[in-house]
Amino acid sequence: MTRAKENAALAALDFVEDGMTLGLGSGSTAELFIEHLGERVAGGLKVQGVPTSEATAACARENGVPLIDIDRVSKIHLTIDGADEVDPMFTLIKGGGACLLREKIVAFASERMIVIVDDRKLVEQLGKFPLPVEVDPFGVALTAEQIYDALQRSGCKNGQTVLRQNADGTGPLITDGGHYIVDCKCEIIPAPGETAHMLERIPGVMEHGLFIDLSGIVIVGEEDHARVMELKRE
Ligand code: 5RP
Repeated sequence: MTRAKENAALAALDFVEDGMTLGLGSGSTAELFIEHLGERVAGGLKVQGVPTSEATAACARENGVPLIDIDRVSKIHLTIDGADEVDPMFTLIKGGGACLLREKIVAFASERMIVIVDDRKLVEQLGKFPLPVEVDPFGVALTAEQIYDALQRSGCKNGQTVLRQNADGTGPLITDGGHYIVDCKCEIIPAPGETAHMLERIPGVMEHGLFIDLSGIVIVGEEDHARVMELKRE
């Protein structure tokens, strides 16, 4: 599967131009992209990156990709990021790596977003991958109930919520922004726009992992090649 991710990452390099400010996504596929971008930088390409997580910033530093603080950029030309699920309208579930708030801030501020995934991430309907929702720690139990309610009312098949824990069992995972992640086992999200809208009304919700209308290009990596899929929106 790494080969498929790598092929997607390599194909994304074709969209990078000299002088660009790039949003650098998070996760293993985005890191493969950053590694190859580093090789191009070593070869003379001039770009600067806005990282979407501390892990991505560390990866960029290791690979010699120059970084710039998000508060010092006036424009982000292109963001390259991975995803956990992609539906036929290029609506995404993101946040498997717990970076969804910063990823969405950067994607929303970008002129263009390209998603790089392996072919397992393509789905007919979103929801099998648990939908991550980034929440404020204050009142998390109440917020989780409100999330469950919103998911039920927007037609999700399930909606059971689980507070994401650190892998070493030391307590709830804390995001780079100091928040918690509630993972929602929706199974099926029949109306992502409606679900997004209802989640956005909950005060404790910082951001949810549904990325809607943010990307027009998805690059799908397979074992021996990559396919560039484009969606034209009116
Ligand atoms: C991190 C993300 C990642 O893009 C997503 O989890 C995909 O990760 P990977 O490329 O490792 O499969 O949303 O918050």
